[in-house]
Amino acid sequence: MVKLSVVGTGYLGATHAAAMSSLGFTVVGVDVDQSKIDLLRQGKVPFFEPGLEELLKTEVDSGRLTFTTDFSELADCDVHFICVGTPQKKDSLAADLTYVDASVAAVAPHAKAGSLIVGKSTVPVGTANRLATMLQELNPSVELAWNPEFLREGFAVEDTLRPNRLVVGVTSERAEEILKEVYAPLLANQVPWIKADLPTAELVKVAANSFLATKISFINAMAEICEAAGGDVTVLAQAIGHDPRIGSRFLQAGIGFGGGCLPKDIRAFMARSEELGARQSLEFLREIDSINLRARQRMIDLVRSDLGLDLKSKKIAVLGAAFKPDSDDVRDSPALDIASQISAAGAHVSVHDPKAIEPARRRFPHLLYSSAIDECVAEADVILHLTEWKMYREIDPSEMKTKVRQAIIIDGRNALDREKWVAAGWKFRALGRS
Ligand code: UGA
Repeated sequence: MVKLSVVGTGYLGATHAAAMSSLGFTVVGVDVDQSKIDLLRQGKVPFFEPGLEELLKTEVDSGRLTFTTDFSELADCDVHFICVGTPQKKDSLAADLTYVDASVAAVAPHAKAGSLIVGKSTVPVGTANRLATMLQELNPSVELAWNPEFLREGFAVEDTLRPNRLVVGVTSERAEEILKEVYAPLLANQVPWIKADLPTAELVKVAANSFLATKISFINAMAEICEAAGGDVTVLAQAIGHDPRIGSRFLQAGIGFGGGCLPKDIRAFMARSEELGARQSLEFLREIDSINLRARQRMIDLVRSDLGLDLKSKKIAVLGAAFKPDSDDVRDSPALDIASQISAAGAHVSVHDPKAIEPARRRFPHLLYSSAIDECVAEADVILHLTEWKMYREIDPSEMKTKVRQAIIIDGRNALDREKWVAAGWKFRALGRS
């Protein structure tokens, strides 16, 4: 059986390493961050991802999954998965490839002849060909392939073990055969297998994320129109979603997309299209980005239309800090962006989240955080529902009414039961619903 290494142990790498180990492979996870490796060795995950810690613990205990900071321990592996981050550069829209380049450079000298380096990170098209050339110089006995990852945070384990497709960018039949061997247990469940060249494999990933971002911004543009025309975007979304060519998923209007993927991926894609001389082709993504950021502003406008332009001395309770439920990831979180802008306008903002308070506090230390919903909403002039955690849908509006100063709630995710809140005497507002 082939032996695997996974370089980079964040969301993608830690999940991939644990999942591959659960399929029976011997896996060594490598990271330059000693504190992360120390935690993983104890079977602990440094972030919240449902089901991952249990899986990781089982695999570490089985002895199949080990972690190290020493790249020489990869020497006997047959396949090396590169799973490091590609964040947005500080000074431009482009992706920062420092970690990907450094990982390939670190693996190459230790990789044994005939082994395969497989990129899983999301990269601008052309990166794999450039890395393949680099590899030719560093270690010509090793081959490069690209195998983009489509996992969603919150469903990372499920998406890794039961993906809806496997895409492999390869330059030889041998590379494809090796990857087929690695993914054999998944292929046994009829997962579609798509063989591509390196550029197409890279493009599939950013095309998919661009499409998803477009779907969300489309429905948020419809929400703007509904607000202007007196319509209801939730009914509109439900109605168009019945057309199977459109589909109902990713049509949840609200404060828009955030996280470590969609926003930076569409920006990096635009930056790359310019380099390729094809700027016009992706010009629409600029509008997708603007609609998305505008949704945050519309939420703040709604608050002002209820509480008045001057937010000083107003108490605003924010339910949700993570960029989406079932995650403690606060990277580019629309909820925290809104909370921070309202706080900058002088309001007294209190934020609740079941999992993301500590990561949120690290990024926005000036906001106030509550670990209990009751404490968060006490004496609030308005409640903003900004991340659709299940626990918020289970709130009893009648009971909550006794805690606040004014019974006004604005649903920024269109996920609460409006009738229930209105029946309990609340003024209920939402984006895209007049
Ligand atoms: C996204 C993609 O969905 C994954 O397929 C991809 O692998 C991943 O990026 C990645 O590139 O690594 P993720 O960032 O975990 O996954 O989050 P999504 O579930 O796509 O949600 C992104 C954002 O869109 C969230 O802020 C969510 O609240 C928002 N969203 C989603 C909406 O506003 N409306 C919707 O209808 C759906």
